[in-house]
Amino acid sequence: KSLSDTPPPRRPFCRVTQEDLTFFRTLLPGRAITDPDLLESSNVDWLKSVKGSSEVLLRPQTTEEVSQILRYCNSRNLAVNPQGGNTGLVGGSVPVHDEIVLSTALMNNILRFDDVSGILTCQSGCILENLSLYLEERGHIMPLDLGAKGSCQIGGNVATNAGGLRLLLYGSLHGTVLGLEVVLANGQVLDCLSTLRKDNTGYDLKQLFIGSEGTLGVITAVSILCPQKPKSVNVVFLGCETFEQLLKTFQLSRSMLGEILSAFEFLDSECLNLLRTHLKLHNPISDCPFYIVIETQGSDSNHDEEKLHNFLEEAMQSSLVVDGTVATEEAKIKALWSMRERITEALTHDGFTYKYDISLPVERIYQLVTDMRQHLGERAKSVVGYGHVGDGNLHLNITSPAKNPALLAAIEPFVYEWTAKFQGSISAEHGLGLKKRNYIYYSKSSQAVALMGTIKAILDPNGILNPYKTLPDNLR
Ligand code: FAD
Ligand code: MLT
Ligand code: ZN
Repeated sequence: KSLSDTPPPRRPFCRVTQEDLTFFRTLLPGRAITDPDLLESSNVDWLKSVKGSSEVLLRPQTTEEVSQILRYCNSRNLAVNPQGGNTGLVGGSVPVHDEIVLSTALMNNILRFDDVSGILTCQSGCILENLSLYLEERGHIMPLDLGAKGSCQIGGNVATNAGGLRLLLYGSLHGTVLGLEVVLANGQVLDCLSTLRKDNTGYDLKQLFIGSEGTLGVITAVSILCPQKPKSVNVVFLGCETFEQLLKTFQLSRSMLGEILSAFEFLDSECLNLLRTHLKLHNPISDCPFYIVIETQGSDSNHDEEKLHNFLEEAMQSSLVVDGTVATEEAKIKALWSMRERITEALTHDGFTYKYDISLPVERIYQLVTDMRQHLGERAKSVVGYGHVGDGNLHLNITSPAKNPALLAAIEPFVYEWTAKFQGSISAEHGLGLKKRNYIYYSKSSQAVALMGTIKAILDPNGILNPYKTLPDNLR
């Protein structure tokens, strides 16, 4: 197995010619970009960990334009990298070599919103936060929320099957996405843009594209079921002495908060140190080994506050938590959420970050952090754990002053073997992209991977869509 930061060799795609550029410039006047300065940010990922060398950035506005681009690229054997907000964390969103970048940034129109059903239909380039603001004015919210909301796009969210901070209550995009419009590699527009809650007419094709990371088609429009805006929201920040107590607090919250529990997130004291050192955020409670962010969403503030009060009383009395603070008004809610949402940003200031996004039986998730710390000893700068306890999803992050192949060799495959030993997933929510593609076998059987290859070959026989991503190198 190759190390995850070794780029695979270029496949024999054609190179973009002057004739190709003339075609793109005629199709997309002023929106076929070749200026290297403008291309710079499209060639580098959010983590600044991988860099491509694309010389062409296309910015279509309509599905028809996407269709014409792909039909042309497919006939010319030109590779294409679909790109949304470029906030992906596995090197999937930027070219590896000279793939053409197809950005959905200008496909940002909201097409319809039905405030009776709560179904929103929009183009795929709409920024998540803009959709949230639009919906909030209409008494609804998006069913997903993540720290990258200001930049990531709904198409990118669907393409990665992003989980985020609210999955515990509203479920995954496999449930909330009702329909998709997708342009296939040959330019064919696949209209599965249903707005029905129930539709069992044949195979549910849209599911194939949710989490396909731009390798099976370009998502051009999304219809999604949006919940009512909750009338009451509370956030609590709690401290625990041990991870066992944190898990017991999770159990208690499930039983005492029930249907209003919308998030149960955690961070360890190392994360808090990073927030303090690099972002100057201060701990709102006393220092503890572990911290919890709990959010409740409900329709009756008296009812929710009473439930929360009883839960907190019980958690304190039984010594599960040692300190805590509650927020009901917006500014404090935001401040408490920052302690969890801004860890990703704090890590970028700590050094080069090796990121692992692991699903495990929930009672095991912190053991991986402890074992990794012991395994690496002095070799790492920081080894931190945070994540979505409610979803059994650990984010294990390891930093080093600079990119460090010896450290990487110590982390991988250790981390994947550890995960496979407990039947976990080596990618809970970020996808495989470039970095994790060759580790897929730790979580999927060879038959399953081979079938993925068959599906890829049917939908994209020339392999032009996001090559070198998601599927392992040995499939080609
Ligand atoms: P990009 O990064 O541009 O692309 C991601 C992948 O999708 C690429 O493979 C790309 O080719 C493909 N793609 C993009 N748009 C399309 C399209 N229209 N059609 C087909 N393929 C497409 N993820 C979580 O799951 N949960 C989190 O809580 C979370 N928090 C984050 C917090 C921060 C600060 C950051 C930087 C990232 C976070 N992420 C999280 C990672 C997450 O994958 C992305 O933020 C988001 O879902 C990607 O959307 P994007 O528009 O930026 O897509
Ligand atoms: C998160 O939950 O904060 C995101 O998935 C980003 C990350 O893992 O750093
Ligand atoms: Zn996450």
